[in-house]
Amino acid sequence: MVKRATKSTTQKSVKQALIDGLNDDLNLELEAVLRYLHHSASATGLLGHELREELKSDIVGEVNHAVFLADKITALGGELDIKPAMPAKVRTAKEMMQIDIAAERQVIKNYARRIEQAEAFGDKGLVIRLEDMLAEETDHAEELERLRR
Ligand SMILES: [Fe+2]
Ligand SMILES: [Fe+2]
Repeated sequence: MVKRATKSTTQKSVKQALIDGLNDDLNLELEAVLRYLHHSASATGLLGHELREELKSDIVGEVNHAVFLADKITALGGELDIKPAMPAKVRTAKEMMQIDIAAERQVIKNYARRIEQAEAFGDKGLVIRLEDMLAEETDHAEELERLRR
C-alpha cells in the first residue's frame, strides 16, 4: 500500500513538473511572437531588412507552437499560466538578432529537457511533437546565425 501511494505521488509530481514546464514553454513561444512582431516591424538598415524577412516568416510557426502547447496543457488537466514578458526596447538590428538567437538557443535547450520529462511521463505523442518543435527552433536559430556571419 505504502509503495503504491508513493508511486502515484511520484507520477503526479512528474506530471505536474511536465505541465509547469509546458507553461514555461508556452510563455516563451508567446514572447517570441511578440518579439518577432516588434523586431520585424521596427528593424532598419540592410541587416534589418534581412531580419524582417526571416522573422516575419517565423511568426506563424511560433503562434502554432503556442496553440499546440496551450491545448496540450489543458488536455493533461493542467491550468494555463499565461504571462509572457513584453519585448525589451532595442535599437539596432544587430542587437535584435543577438537577442533572437539567444532566445532560440534557450528554447532548444528547454525542449530537450521537456522531451525527457514527456518520456518519463510516458507520453510518446508529446515526445514526437516536441521533437518536431525542437527541429523547427533549430532551423530558426541556424537561419538567424547565418545572418550574423
Ligand atoms: Fe516556437
Ligand atoms: Fe523559433
